[in-house]
Amino acid sequence: MNYHQQFQEVNRLLEQTRQWWQFAAFHDRQSRWKQISPQLDKRLNQARLGYEDFNREQLSVLQQLLDELIPQLNKLKELTKLPKSDDYLEAPDSHWQYQIAGRKWSQIKHFAAHVPKHKNLLEWCAGKGHLGRLVASQGAQSLISVEWQQALCEKNHSLNLRLDIDKNYCPSCVLERDVLSEKWTEEYPLSHYALALHACGDLHTHLVKLVAEKQTEGICLAPCCYNLIKKEYYQPLSWQAKKSDLQLSRLDLSLPLRQLVTAGEREQREQKQERLWRIAFDCWQRNKRNIDQYMPLPTIPKKILKGSFSDFILWAATEKSIDVSSSVLVDETLMQAQKRLPVITQMEWVQFQFQRAIEVWLLLDQVLFLEANGYMCDLFEFCEKSLTPRNLMLRADKRSC
Ligand SMILES: C[S@@+](CC[C@H](N)C(=O)[O-])C[C@H]1O[C@@H](n2cnc3c(N)ncnc32)[C@H](O)[C@@H]1O
Repeated sequence: MNYHQQFQEVNRLLEQTRQWWQFAAFHDRQSRWKQISPQLDKRLNQARLGYEDFNREQLSVLQQLLDELIPQLNKLKELTKLPKSDDYLEAPDSHWQYQIAGRKWSQIKHFAAHVPKHKNLLEWCAGKGHLGRLVASQGAQSLISVEWQQALCEKNHSLNLRLDIDKNYCPSCVLERDVLSEKWTEEYPLSHYALALHACGDLHTHLVKLVAEKQTEGICLAPCCYNLIKKEYYQPLSWQAKKSDLQLSRLDLSLPLRQLVTAGEREQREQKQERLWRIAFDCWQRNKRNIDQYMPLPTIPKKILKGSFSDFILWAATEKSIDVSSSVLVDETLMQAQKRLPVITQMEWVQFQFQRAIEVWLLLDQVLFLEANGYMCDLFEFCEKSLTPRNLMLRADKRSC
């Protein structure tokens, strides 16, 4: 099956199953499964999915039921299983791992193994430039890192000096640029092979478009945060995706990201509390305003999350210009949230089964666009999911005429 056929099939199955994944679980007060499948709703509640006493051994039984209810699910899982690579690149010595967390370094080593040698390299949204340096150590012709944060650029430059990249490997330079700016688009070096590890939404689609437009040598890309886009909806690149009935909102684009594979115990506890508080605010604001409508909150500052629940409500109400003159019924509000939590979890559990399919749909769109523009593409898992849930890589190399 080629990428065109794979995309058409994934797209068809996602279109058919929209009612199971294209919705905002936070917005519904009642589980939507009550209407769509009372049988599923009953079984999820009997198994107590989303409650503290849920026994994970029940998952396989629930999964079986779901596979029967949504026959497209297994087909989607089969279709979106991608080749896995175990390859990784070792650094010349242990100094290279200076100031990098272990898991990040492993991701970088796995990513680096797929970059062709002897290229002029351009590291896109480079952060401190660890990836570019490692690839450069294997015989690149030159290395440019682009990043817009001055502090990261300075760090990158000092790490290049520390390892004496220019003397030992190849000429290097760090450019402080906004990669989305027109100025940079004009400046973009045509002879370079691009590397982008975990470039978010618009940042990676912009790069894919630039590579195709400028017909550069190629790209190794592992995208992340698909939802970080300026427009309200994803703007497909390929003609195939442009013809699709699927319109992916920012919320849909956040679906592949909503998982906790790499979170530690403390992080999980914090996320659980934040989730409960967000739902509690929603219960509170619906009562207070007497409008049964969800109200999103911006990112909650860490300081607020570490404080008391009442202070959080005060902060959230101020953010949303809601009057908090009367006192907040803390226990009652938290109890309402505790009740809604399993309802949301049960809806999300089904929705999450489509995460990979949506992610693969997005990447296939980019693959098809690059193929149509003269590139040979490969889509695969460059590392284990336990190292990063964003473990998909698109490698595209300009076809020789
Ligand atoms: C998720 S980090 C990835 C960094 C690095 N590639 C890595 O994997 O460690 C995204 C990087 O993109 C940079 N960035 C975000 N928007 C940018 C822009 N418009 N222009 C240049 N860099 C940008 C951020 O400062 C950040 O360093």
